Amino acid sequence: MAKNPNTPNQPPSFVYGATRDWPGYFKAVAGKPPRETLLEALTRFKDEQPTTAIDLGCGEGRDTQELLNQGWRVLAIDGSQAGIDTLFERPGLANHPNLTTRISTFEQLADLPRVRLLNASFCIPFCIPEHFNRFWNTITSAIEPGGRFSGQLFGDRDSWASIPDRSHQTRAEAEALFSDFDLEMFDEEERDKQDFQGLTKRWHIFHIVARKHD
Ligand SMILES: C[S@@+](CC[C@H](N)C(=O)[O-])C[C@H]1O[C@@H](n2cnc3c(N)ncnc32)[C@H](O)[C@@H]1O
Repeated sequence: MAKNPNTPNQPPSFVYGATRDWPGYFKAVAGKPPRETLLEALTRFKDEQPTTAIDLGCGEGRDTQELLNQGWRVLAIDGSQAGIDTLFERPGLANHPNLTTRISTFEQLADLPRVRLLNASFCIPFCIPEHFNRFWNTITSAIEPGGRFSGQLFGDRDSWASIPDRSHQTRAEAEALFSDFDLEMFDEEERDKQDFQGLTKRWHIFHIVARKHD
């Protein structure tokens, strides 16, 4: 049976995503580095002074930590109190002067500040489909002209696409969501991975960095 090579006694993190067991997920990903899509976006800002970012679906804070380390002022948002509590346990984050947090579901998200970077790693498909269009409009409207989105959309061939409360897109649908952006990274990943019980999950993910038109 395949086990998580990083934490041999725990199942891989995706097992928790299937059931929205976020506290279990936060334990499974503890100590993991920031996401590649965030790092790519930060590289593309290298000629600008860091300003303001939203880390949407921040979870236990792997990307929030990196943004703060690189000098950004961060609004970290998540629906899970456990996520925000775990984020605050990171060294230096409990009273960090550049960090603000907000507990909100994606379905109720409103009144976002305008930011230079909106990072949304592995969280967007968890928005309930009836709310997706309003949610997408809310988050993309928060990005300044010339600002960036970094994160993932999940594809229609992902195993979780058949779960009724998930929002997945075909490649064409995903591209259409970025009609107001230039796509700087749009990497399509499709592969099978086994969980600790030998069950196979198909991942179909679009890894995206995009710059909003001026
Ligand atoms: C798979 S985790 C990703 C966390 C982190 N961004 C990362 O890359 O590891 C998904 C995150 O989205 C949050 N989330 C899921 N559904 C949500 C919803 N409907 N509203 C708000 N947050 C939600 C969860 O609490 C969790 O922190």
